[in-house]
Amino acid sequence: MFFLFTIFALLIQAGDIDPNSLADYPYKLMHLTKNPDGSLTRAKDFYPTNPPNNSISHAFSRDVTLNKTKKTWIRLYLPNKSNLANLPVIIFGHGGGFIILSTATPSFDLFLSKTAGKLNVLIVSVEYRLTPENRLPAAYDDFLEALQWVKKKNDDWVRKYADVSKCIVMGESSGANVAYNAVLRASLMVRELRPLVIRGLVLVQPFIGGVLRTGSELRKAANTPGLPLVVMDFLWNQSLPLGTNRDHLYCNPLIRGGSRNLDKIKRLGWPITIMGCNGDILIDRQLMMFDFLKQQGVNVIGNFSIGGYHGVFLNETAEIEKLYGFTRSVFPSILPY
Ligand SMILES: *[C@@H]1O[C@H](CO)[C@@H](O)[C@H](O)[C@H]1NC(C)=O
Ligand SMILES: *[C@@H]1O[C@H](CO)[C@@H](O)[C@H](O)[C@H]1NC(C)=O
Ligand SMILES: *[C@@H]1O[C@H](CO)[C@@H](O)[C@H](O)[C@H]1NC(C)=O
Ligand SMILES: *[C@@H]1O[C@H](CO)[C@@H](O)[C@H](O)[C@H]1NC(C)=O
Ligand SMILES: *[C@@H]1O[C@H](CO)[C@@H](O)[C@H](O)[C@H]1NC(C)=O
Ligand SMILES: *[C@@H]1O[C@H](CO)[C@@H](O)[C@H](O)[C@H]1NC(C)=O
Repeated sequence: MFFLFTIFALLIQAGDIDPNSLADYPYKLMHLTKNPDGSLTRAKDFYPTNPPNNSISHAFSRDVTLNKTKKTWIRLYLPNKSNLANLPVIIFGHGGGFIILSTATPSFDLFLSKTAGKLNVLIVSVEYRLTPENRLPAAYDDFLEALQWVKKKNDDWVRKYADVSKCIVMGESSGANVAYNAVLRASLMVRELRPLVIRGLVLVQPFIGGVLRTGSELRKAANTPGLPLVVMDFLWNQSLPLGTNRDHLYCNPLIRGGSRNLDKIKRLGWPITIMGCNGDILIDRQLMMFDFLKQQGVNVIGNFSIGGYHGVFLNETAEIEKLYGFTRSVFPSILPY
């Protein structure tokens, strides 16, 4: 089976295409067709999805509508265990460069099912709107709507099994970007979101950028097969608000002193954790973000390792265990062993 992972796994598999000779390289690579109205057709064969509750034995899953008008939904994962009560909640954003993939993509679906069982949490995975049909901040809006949905407890699993005062927000790659930006906004809605309480943020290899190239972008631009900067630039071009560039706050979290809401996050004491590895083209930016947040007085905790690649923390069993161990170490009272 063509096992989709993150967008970057896809890129590596397509490493035989010469990026420089093709203007439409990103389209070919991601099996996208551009429609006259600017929307994209995503070749169905390359984007398989799992139905709910079809995963491994770790958890049951179920899909619920988030907003019918926007065609957004949520996949919930409930651990396969007896005596479930007062489970912490992980609200999750999947990766895919904002423009492809789904929580139902097998790699994400399996990861989330496993995570629900291993960390003993209820997972609320947000199927946010994709770009370029719905440019940022649409995905951030949808993620915030998911927080409101959890707060309302208008669902059996949430009502019966979850303790919404123990919410951790997590995302991978572009999903980490969505989680970060949504949480920046949620920091101004603390009262409104109660009884939901955010306890902190887990950013797994966040997808961020900026106009000026970093060292790792320049270094790895050429030698990472199928992962050229041209594709990352394409993703931002398709995702950022029209008329902006990569020095928009949605892309570059450091620009112009960063979000004003960081002050709020600092006062709330929400830990922001960043996981990365130096095999990732984005590593320098993630390190810059870490240093920047530290300077701002935010409770930022990093876990940066040697080797790896973009997507490794969801792709390899040993790395997934590291992710669990690290997350537990940051939230010991919420995620006991
Ligand atoms: C993901 O893991 C599998 C199995 O370990 C490996 O074959 C594959 O290359 C990995 N994906 C990437 C993008 O490296
Ligand atoms: C999931 O599958 C199991 C086993 O087939 C079944 O018992 C359970 O009711 C299903 N759960 C949902 C929510 O559909
Ligand atoms: C729950 O998990 C256990 C242990 O992995 C497995 O034996 C059992 O079949 C699972 N239950 C369901 C309904 O899938
Ligand atoms: C769903 O989206 C529509 C259109 O943006 C909005 O007016 C409505 O308030 C949303 N519904 C909910 C439940 O958030
Ligand atoms: C995307 O690229 C086009 C063509 O170069 C440019 O006109 C446009 O401003 C870019 N948009 C964004 C958001 O980067
Ligand atoms: C990252 O977290 C894992 C799991 O807790 C730990 O084993 C490892 O030492 C940490 N690495 C770094 C560089 O902090």
